[in-house]
Formats: sequence, structure tokens, C-alpha cells
Amino acid sequence: MTFMPWRDDLSVGLESIDEQHRWLLEATNRLHDEMSQEVRHREVIIEVIEGLIDYTVNHFIMEEELFYRHGYPDADAHKALHDHFTKTLLEILSHYEEGKEIGAEVLELLKNWLVQHIMVVDKAYVPFLAEKGVA
Ligand SMILES: [Fe+2]
Ligand SMILES: [Fe+2]
Repeated sequence: MTFMPWRDDLSVGLESIDEQHRWLLEATNRLHDEMSQEVRHREVIIEVIEGLIDYTVNHFIMEEELFYRHGYPDADAHKALHDHFTKTLLEILSHYEEGKEIGAEVLELLKNWLVQHIMVVDKAYVPFLAEKGVA
């Protein structure tokens, strides 16, 4: 079973953003699948986490670039949430690279953060960007 399937209510209504969010869910699913293996392959898990961080950071930059280009009033607050999550991801990575284990709580954290952020924080910028003609 897919750990974090895409659901239509996650759509913010902007195709390029939805596509990136879908990718973030897929990366979370890949991490879940790798962590569920009977024998965990540390190098593979590290690679998946690195890929997730990489893509997440690029996605955040893309959103923030849109905010600042169009003068979104909540840009700084939104960016602060992005920065905090990036920090959390980097902490998870270094924790794991130090040889410590990570468990289901990490997957739950990723899932909850992504759902809450997309549903509430990302959806909040959509009417503003739509008004600016961003489709
Ligand atoms: Fe987003
Ligand atoms: Fe965001």
C-alpha cells in the first residue's frame, strides 16, 4: 500500500506547483519503502533523503521567488516555515549519517508536515497569485 497517496484535495489548482508537490509525496513514499525493507540499505536511504532535501529546497525557492516577484504579503512568514522544515530535514539526514536509526516517527513527521503545509499554508497563497495572473 502506498504510504502517502496523492489525493485530489491536495491540489492547490496551479499545475506546476501540484506537480512538484506530487514529487515530494513520491519521494516520501520511496523513503517509506526503503525503510520498510527487511534489511535496510543505509546508502540507499541516505540517497533518498538527500534527493528529498534537494527537491524540497528547489521547490521552496520556486515558491518564494513567486512570492517576492509578485509582492505576496506573507512571503517572509511562509519562507520561515520553509526554512524550519529544511533545517529539520538536514537534522534527520545528519542524525542518520551519524549511524543512528530513524523510525516511523520520521515518516509521520514528513507526512503531517507536507499535508498541513500544502493544505493550509500553500493554499493560502493561491488566490493572491491567481489575482496576479499566475496560472
Ligand atoms: Fe509547496
Ligand atoms: Fe510552501
